[in-house]
Amino acid sequence: MGAPLITVLGSLNMDLVALVDRAPLQGETVTGREFRTIPGGKGANQAIAAARAGASVAMIGAVGSDAFGDQLLATLHADGVDTARVRRTPGASGTAHIVVDSAGRNAIVVVPGANGTVTALTEDDKDLIRKSRFLLMQLELPLSVVEEGAAVAAEAGVTVVLTPAPAQPLPESLLRRVDWLVPNEHEAALLTGESDLTKAGCMLAGLCRNVVITLGSEGCLLVTGGGRRSLPVDAVKVTPVDTTAAGDTFTGALAVALAEGKGAEDALRFATRAAAISVTRLGASPSMPWRKEIDAFQPGREGL
Ligand code: RIB
Repeated sequence: MGAPLITVLGSLNMDLVALVDRAPLQGETVTGREFRTIPGGKGANQAIAAARAGASVAMIGAVGSDAFGDQLLATLHADGVDTARVRRTPGASGTAHIVVDSAGRNAIVVVPGANGTVTALTEDDKDLIRKSRFLLMQLELPLSVVEEGAAVAAEAGVTVVLTPAPAQPLPESLLRRVDWLVPNEHEAALLTGESDLTKAGCMLAGLCRNVVITLGSEGCLLVTGGGRRSLPVDAVKVTPVDTTAAGDTFTGALAVALAEGKGAEDALRFATRAAAISVTRLGASPSMPWRKEIDAFQPGREGL
Protein backbone atom coordinates (compact mmCIF):
# COMPACT_ATOMS: atom_id res chain seq x y z
CA MET A 1 0.00 0.00 0.00
CA GLY A 2 1.35 3.47 -0.90
CA ALA A 3 1.49 6.50 1.37
CA PRO A 4 -1.99 7.76 2.31
CA LEU A 5 -3.39 10.45 0.01
CA ILE A 6 -3.98 13.70 1.82
CA THR A 7 -5.57 16.56 -0.08
CA VAL A 8 -5.19 20.11 1.17
CA LEU A 9 -7.78 22.67 0.12
CA GLY A 10 -6.16 25.91 1.16
CA SER A 11 -4.07 29.02 0.73
CA LEU A 12 -0.64 29.69 -0.73
CA ASN A 13 1.04 32.93 0.37
CA MET A 14 4.45 34.48 -0.04
CA ASP A 15 5.46 35.47 3.49
CA LEU A 16 7.18 38.87 3.65
CA VAL A 17 8.99 38.57 6.94
CA ALA A 18 10.61 41.36 8.98
CA LEU A 19 12.79 40.18 11.86
CA VAL A 20 12.72 42.73 14.69
CA ASP A 21 13.88 42.97 18.28
CA ARG A 22 10.36 43.93 19.27
CA ALA A 23 7.14 44.46 17.30
CA PRO A 24 6.03 48.09 16.83
CA LEU A 25 3.20 49.49 18.92
CA GLN A 26 0.24 51.18 17.18
CA GLY A 27 1.58 54.28 15.36
CA GLU A 28 5.22 53.44 16.11
CA THR A 29 8.08 52.75 13.65
CA VAL A 30 10.86 50.37 14.61
CA THR A 31 13.99 49.35 12.71
CA GLY A 32 14.16 45.71 11.73
CA ARG A 33 17.21 43.43 11.66
CA GLU A 34 16.50 41.52 8.47
CA PHE A 35 13.93 40.93 5.71
CA ARG A 36 13.14 37.59 4.05
CA THR A 37 10.63 36.33 1.49
CA ILE A 38 9.60 32.82 2.54
CA PRO A 39 6.95 30.57 0.92
CA GLY A 40 4.00 30.00 3.26
CA GLY A 41 0.22 30.14 3.50
CA LYS A 42 -1.63 27.92 5.92
CA GLY A 43 -2.70 25.53 3.16
CA ALA A 44 0.71 25.16 1.52
CA ASN A 45 2.33 24.83 4.95
CA GLN A 46 0.05 21.95 5.91
CA ALA A 47 0.69 20.31 2.52
CA ILE A 48 4.47 20.49 2.96
CA ALA A 49 4.29 19.37 6.58
CA ALA A 50 2.24 16.31 5.58
CA ALA A 51 4.50 15.49 2.61
CA ARG A 52 7.66 15.70 4.70
CA ALA A 53 6.01 13.58 7.41
CA GLY A 54 5.49 10.83 4.85
CA ALA A 55 2.16 11.27 3.04
CA SER A 56 1.34 11.51 -0.63
CA VAL A 57 -0.15 15.01 -0.86
CA ALA A 58 -2.18 16.96 -3.41
CA MET A 59 -3.20 20.59 -3.15
CA ILE A 60 -6.23 22.56 -4.36
CA GLY A 61 -5.83 26.35 -4.37
CA ALA A 62 -4.64 29.26 -6.48
CA VAL A 63 -1.60 31.42 -7.11
CA GLY A 64 -1.37 34.61 -9.14
CA SER A 65 0.41 35.31 -12.43
CA ASP A 66 3.30 37.04 -10.62
CA ALA A 67 6.78 35.78 -9.75
CA PHE A 68 5.57 34.80 -6.26
CA GLY A 69 3.19 32.36 -7.95
CA ASP A 70 6.12 30.66 -9.71
CA GLN A 71 8.06 30.40 -6.45
CA LEU A 72 5.08 29.05 -4.48
CA LEU A 73 4.47 26.30 -7.04
CA ALA A 74 8.18 25.44 -7.18
CA THR A 75 8.25 25.09 -3.40
CA LEU A 76 5.41 22.57 -3.42
CA HIS A 77 7.00 20.64 -6.30
CA ALA A 78 10.28 20.42 -4.40
CA ASP A 79 8.45 18.50 -1.67
CA GLY A 80 6.60 16.28 -4.13
CA VAL A 81 3.17 17.88 -3.63
CA ASP A 82 0.83 17.40 -6.61
CA THR A 83 -0.19 20.88 -7.81
CA ALA A 84 -2.32 19.88 -10.80
CA ARG A 85 -5.39 21.37 -9.05
CA VAL A 86 -3.70 24.69 -8.14
CA ARG A 87 -5.13 27.34 -10.44
CA ARG A 88 -3.06 30.16 -11.94
CA THR A 89 -5.15 33.36 -11.93
CA PRO A 90 -4.35 36.81 -13.36
CA GLY A 91 -2.99 39.24 -10.76
CA ALA A 92 -1.23 38.94 -7.42
CA SER A 93 -0.57 35.83 -5.35
CA GLY A 94 -1.54 35.85 -1.69
CA THR A 95 0.93 37.58 0.61
CA ALA A 96 1.41 37.51 4.37
CA HIS A 97 3.14 40.44 6.05
CA ILE A 98 4.82 39.04 9.13
CA VAL A 99 6.76 40.61 11.99
CA VAL A 100 8.79 38.13 14.06
CA ASP A 101 10.29 39.40 17.32
CA SER A 102 13.37 38.19 19.18
CA ALA A 103 11.25 35.80 21.28
CA GLY A 104 9.97 34.10 18.12
CA ARG A 105 6.47 35.60 18.44
CA ASN A 106 4.74 36.83 15.32
CA ALA A 107 2.00 39.16 14.11
CA ILE A 108 0.56 38.58 10.63
CA VAL A 109 -1.53 40.49 8.09
CA VAL A 110 -2.71 38.31 5.19
CA VAL A 111 -3.72 39.81 1.83
CA PRO A 112 -5.59 36.99 0.01
CA GLY A 113 -4.78 37.84 -3.64
CA ALA A 114 -5.37 34.73 -5.77
CA ASN A 115 -6.60 32.74 -2.74
CA GLY A 116 -9.76 34.87 -2.79
CA THR A 117 -10.66 33.60 -6.27
CA VAL A 118 -11.16 30.00 -5.09
CA THR A 119 -14.88 30.29 -4.39
CA ALA A 120 -16.05 26.90 -5.71
CA LEU A 121 -14.74 23.42 -6.52
CA THR A 122 -14.45 22.06 -10.06
CA GLU A 123 -15.53 18.49 -10.87
CA ASP A 124 -11.83 17.50 -10.97
CA ASP A 125 -11.33 19.00 -7.48
CA LYS A 126 -14.27 16.97 -6.19
CA ASP A 127 -12.93 13.75 -7.73
CA LEU A 128 -9.57 14.35 -6.06
CA ILE A 129 -11.22 14.88 -2.67
CA ARG A 130 -13.35 11.73 -3.07
CA LYS A 131 -10.30 9.53 -3.64
CA SER A 132 -8.36 10.99 -0.67
CA ARG A 133 -8.13 9.56 2.84
CA PHE A 134 -8.03 13.00 4.49
CA LEU A 135 -9.08 16.52 3.49
CA LEU A 136 -7.23 19.34 5.29
CA MET A 137 -8.69 22.87 5.25
CA GLN A 138 -8.14 26.23 6.93
CA LEU A 139 -9.97 29.56 6.58
CA GLU A 140 -7.71 31.54 4.21
CA LEU A 141 -9.94 30.60 1.24
CA PRO A 142 -13.53 31.87 0.90
CA LEU A 143 -15.87 30.10 3.32
CA SER A 144 -18.09 28.95 0.41
CA VAL A 145 -15.40 26.58 -0.90
CA VAL A 146 -14.52 25.32 2.58
CA GLU A 147 -18.17 24.39 3.12
CA GLU A 148 -18.32 22.73 -0.30
CA GLY A 149 -15.12 20.78 0.39
CA ALA A 150 -16.47 19.54 3.71
CA ALA A 151 -19.74 18.46 2.10
CA VAL A 152 -18.01 16.52 -0.71
CA ALA A 153 -15.59 14.86 1.71
CA ALA A 154 -18.23 13.95 4.29
CA GLU A 155 -20.46 12.38 1.65
CA ALA A 156 -17.52 10.28 0.39
CA GLY A 157 -16.41 9.21 3.88
CA VAL A 158 -13.17 11.21 3.67
CA THR A 159 -11.87 12.41 7.05
CA VAL A 160 -12.23 16.20 7.36
CA VAL A 161 -9.62 18.20 9.31
CA LEU A 162 -10.26 21.92 9.76
CA THR A 163 -7.96 24.55 11.24
CA PRO A 164 -10.36 27.46 11.94
CA ALA A 165 -7.76 30.16 11.25
CA PRO A 166 -7.91 33.07 10.73
CA ALA A 167 -10.69 32.88 13.31
CA GLN A 168 -14.22 33.66 12.25
CA PRO A 169 -17.67 32.48 13.32
CA LEU A 170 -18.59 29.25 11.52
CA PRO A 171 -21.96 27.72 10.64
CA GLU A 172 -22.99 24.66 12.66
CA SER A 173 -23.62 22.82 9.37
CA LEU A 174 -19.87 23.04 8.60
CA LEU A 175 -18.70 22.09 12.09
CA ARG A 176 -20.92 18.98 12.06
CA ARG A 177 -18.98 17.68 9.04
CA VAL A 178 -15.59 18.08 10.72
CA ASP A 179 -13.87 14.97 12.10
CA TRP A 180 -10.89 16.82 13.58
CA LEU A 181 -11.17 20.51 14.47
CA VAL A 182 -7.78 22.00 15.40
CA PRO A 183 -8.22 25.54 16.82
CA ASN A 184 -5.77 27.38 19.01
CA GLU A 185 -7.12 28.73 22.29
CA HIS A 186 -8.10 32.12 20.78
CA GLU A 187 -9.94 30.47 17.90
CA ALA A 188 -11.72 28.08 20.29
CA ALA A 189 -12.84 31.06 22.41
CA LEU A 190 -14.03 33.00 19.36
CA LEU A 191 -15.97 30.05 17.97
CA THR A 192 -17.77 29.39 21.25
CA GLY A 193 -17.80 32.73 23.10
CA GLU A 194 -16.34 30.75 26.04
CA SER A 195 -12.92 31.63 27.47
CA ASP A 196 -12.72 28.52 29.68
CA LEU A 197 -10.82 26.04 27.50
CA THR A 198 -12.42 22.89 28.80
CA LYS A 199 -15.91 24.32 28.36
CA ALA A 200 -15.04 25.60 24.87
CA GLY A 201 -13.67 22.16 23.96
CA CYS A 202 -16.84 20.46 25.21
CA MET A 203 -19.06 22.84 23.26
CA LEU A 204 -17.11 22.23 20.05
CA ALA A 205 -16.97 18.47 20.65
CA GLY A 206 -20.77 18.53 20.72
CA LEU A 207 -20.56 19.37 17.01
CA CYS A 208 -17.25 18.00 15.66
CA ARG A 209 -16.12 14.43 16.36
CA ASN A 210 -12.69 15.34 17.77
CA VAL A 211 -11.43 18.72 18.95
CA VAL A 212 -7.73 19.43 19.50
CA ILE A 213 -7.08 22.82 21.08
CA THR A 214 -3.43 23.75 20.55
CA LEU A 215 -1.85 25.63 23.44
CA GLY A 216 1.54 26.68 22.06
CA SER A 217 4.30 25.92 24.56
CA GLU A 218 1.71 24.26 26.85
CA GLY A 219 0.88 21.43 24.43
CA CYS A 220 -2.67 20.60 23.41
CA LEU A 221 -5.99 19.33 24.72
CA LEU A 222 -8.02 16.65 22.93
CA VAL A 223 -11.76 16.61 23.61
CA THR A 224 -13.90 13.82 22.15
CA GLY A 225 -17.10 11.86 22.73
CA GLY A 226 -19.32 14.93 22.69
CA GLY A 227 -17.18 16.42 25.47
CA ARG A 228 -17.20 13.35 27.74
CA ARG A 229 -13.51 12.49 27.20
CA SER A 230 -10.50 14.80 27.30
CA LEU A 231 -6.77 14.18 27.09
CA PRO A 232 -4.09 16.82 27.71
CA VAL A 233 -0.79 16.28 25.85
CA ASP A 234 2.30 18.15 27.05
CA ALA A 235 4.40 20.21 24.66
CA VAL A 236 8.01 19.35 23.96
CA LYS A 237 10.07 22.19 25.45
CA VAL A 238 12.39 23.92 22.97
CA THR A 239 13.92 27.37 22.60
CA PRO A 240 11.74 29.15 20.02
CA VAL A 241 13.26 30.93 17.03
CA ASP A 242 10.02 31.50 15.10
CA THR A 243 6.58 30.11 15.93
CA THR A 244 5.17 30.90 12.46
CA ALA A 245 3.43 27.83 11.03
CA ALA A 246 3.91 25.68 14.14
CA GLY A 247 0.15 25.05 14.09
CA ASP A 248 0.26 24.13 10.40
CA THR A 249 3.13 21.72 11.03
CA PHE A 250 1.15 20.18 13.90
CA THR A 251 -1.95 19.67 11.76
CA GLY A 252 -0.10 18.26 8.75
CA ALA A 253 1.79 15.78 10.92
CA LEU A 254 -1.35 14.87 12.89
CA ALA A 255 -3.18 13.98 9.69
CA VAL A 256 -0.32 11.76 8.52
CA ALA A 257 -0.16 9.91 11.84
CA LEU A 258 -3.93 9.37 11.91
CA ALA A 259 -3.99 8.30 8.26
CA GLU A 260 -1.29 5.74 9.07
CA GLY A 261 -3.56 4.31 11.77
CA LYS A 262 -1.89 5.66 14.91
CA GLY A 263 -4.19 6.08 17.91
CA ALA A 264 -5.15 9.61 18.94
CA GLU A 265 -2.59 9.91 21.76
CA ASP A 266 0.33 8.64 19.66
CA ALA A 267 -0.74 10.84 16.75
CA LEU A 268 -0.86 13.91 18.99
CA ARG A 269 2.60 13.16 20.39
CA PHE A 270 3.95 12.77 16.85
CA ALA A 271 2.37 16.10 15.82
CA THR A 272 3.69 17.79 18.96
CA ARG A 273 7.25 16.69 18.15
CA ALA A 274 6.93 17.93 14.57
CA ALA A 275 5.66 21.33 15.75
CA ALA A 276 8.44 21.58 18.34
CA ILE A 277 11.08 21.09 15.66
CA SER A 278 9.46 23.72 13.44
CA VAL A 279 9.62 26.46 16.09
CA THR A 280 13.39 26.02 16.35
CA ARG A 281 13.76 27.18 12.74
CA LEU A 282 12.98 30.44 10.92
CA GLY A 283 10.07 30.73 8.51
CA ALA A 284 7.01 28.74 7.51
CA SER A 285 7.68 26.06 4.90
CA PRO A 286 11.47 25.83 5.47
CA SER A 287 10.90 25.07 9.15
CA MET A 288 8.97 21.85 8.63
CA PRO A 289 10.70 18.63 9.63
CA TRP A 290 11.12 15.48 7.56
CA ARG A 291 9.87 12.14 8.88
CA LYS A 292 13.26 10.88 9.99
CA GLU A 293 13.77 14.06 12.02
CA ILE A 294 10.41 13.67 13.77
CA ASP A 295 11.08 10.02 14.57
CA ALA A 296 14.61 10.77 15.84
CA PHE A 297 13.77 13.98 17.72
CA GLN A 298 15.03 14.19 21.28
CA PRO A 299 13.92 17.24 23.28
CA GLY A 300 16.83 19.37 24.44
CA ARG A 301 19.06 18.31 21.53
CA GLU A 302 17.23 20.27 18.84
CA GLY A 303 20.15 22.62 18.20
CA LEU A 304 22.62 19.79 17.58
O1 RIB B 1 0.13 29.82 9.76
C1 RIB B 1 1.21 30.55 9.25
C2 RIB B 1 0.87 31.16 7.94
O2 RIB B 1 -0.17 32.11 8.13
C3 RIB B 1 1.99 31.92 7.27
O3 RIB B 1 2.80 31.12 6.45
C4 RIB B 1 1.24 33.01 6.51
O4 RIB B 1 1.26 32.84 5.13
C5 RIB B 1 -0.18 32.99 7.05
O5 RIB B 1 -1.03 32.45 6.14
